[in-house]
This record gives sequence, structure tokens and C-alpha cells, in this order.
Amino acid sequence: MELASLIERRYSCRSYADRPVDRALVRKICKEAALAPSACNSQPWKMHALYGEKKAAAARALQGLGLNAHAARAPVLIAVEQTPAKYMSRFDGIVPPNAWAPCDIGILAAHIVLLAEANGLQSCIIGYDADPAAVKELLHTENPVPLFIALGYAEEGAPMPAKKRKPTEDVFTEEE
Ligand SMILES: Cc1cc2nc3c(=O)[nH]c(=O)nc-3n(C[C@H](O)[C@H](O)[C@H](O)COP(=O)(O)O)c2cc1C
Repeated sequence: MELASLIERRYSCRSYADRPVDRALVRKICKEAALAPSACNSQPWKMHALYGEKKAAAARALQGLGLNAHAARAPVLIAVEQTPAKYMSRFDGIVPPNAWAPCDIGILAAHIVLLAEANGLQSCIIGYDADPAAVKELLHTENPVPLFIALGYAEEGAPMPAKKRKPTEDVFTEEE
């Protein structure tokens, strides 16, 4: 499918069908997503595909402020752990540690959701984590876990929301 069409079709799905997702497909998506660019090719990420009880526990940790109930209904949650980034030594003392890691994680997430769409799956990036300590304990890590990605098949008849975006003239300029 053409990239522009994938970008148009992708949306944050919050209604998932009670249908499992093939684990091999999730592995393939994560493997392909890891071809994403990153600063100094540091690849400061680890993707944890969570199923069953572990997924349910992670979904509980993400819920709060009336948000993220859909995490519990998605059959898969991918937790994206931010691992320490190693940059070229010329940056030592010049840029803070892990300076570009959040950007890299965002680009990885974009790759995951577009690959999901290309493979007939819906997704939702989830940044709000009500209980980060519980997440770290669950994943046995001290590293930050800045993003989760819910994956699954959309519930039949679930509406695809219209895209609401700022006007192009507000977000794009041409300058010379
Ligand atoms: C970094 C990031 C964090 C997000 N966190 C949440 C979240 O915690 N819960 C949620 O339901 N949606 C979350 N979203 C989804 C956004 O609300 C959504 O992308 C935005 O409203 C645009 O809608 P669309 O994805 O359907 O085009 C997040 C998106 C991004 C990129």
C-alpha cells in the first residue's frame, strides 16, 4: 500500500475486536520497525510484546484520569523501553546523555503503527502511564518505558474518526 494512503488510514483505535493477533506477525512488525533511523544508530529501545496476564497487568498500570481503558481490550501491548544510548565520542560532554533517545523512540513508534496498518492491524500509541513503578517492576527494568502501543483488530463497525489537524499554514512555512 502506498505510504500516503497508510498514513491517512491509520488512526488511534480505542475499540478492539475479541480476536487474537498472530504473535509471528507482531514479531515481524517489530523486526521491521527496528530498521527505523536513530541518532548515531544508537537504537535506544527494547520492544516488549505483552500478552495474557502480563498485558493485563500493564494495561492496569496505564489506566487513570479516565484514560486508556482500551489498553485492557487490545490483545497485544508493545511496551517500548528506552535503553541507554551510545553516541559518537565527539559528543561526550557536549550533549546530555540520551539526548536524542525520546526522538528515536517516537520514530520507532511511528514505524510500528504504520507497519501495523500495512498488515491490517489497528493501533494506539499510549504515553500516559499512571503507575510507572509498576511497569518497571513488570518489565524487570530500571529504564524509562515512555511509550506503549496497543495492537489489535478493530471492532466491527467501530467508527474511524475524522482527522482533526491544524491548518497547513499554521504548521508549515517555506523560507529562504
Ligand atoms: C506520544 C503520544 C502519546 C499518546 N498517548 C495517548 C494515551 O495515553 N491515550 C490515548 O488514548 N491516546 C494517546 N495518544 C493518541 C493521540 O491522542 C492521537 O494520536 C491523536 O489524538 C491524533 O489522533 P489519531 O491518532 O487518531 O490520528 C498518544 C499519541 C502520541 C503520539
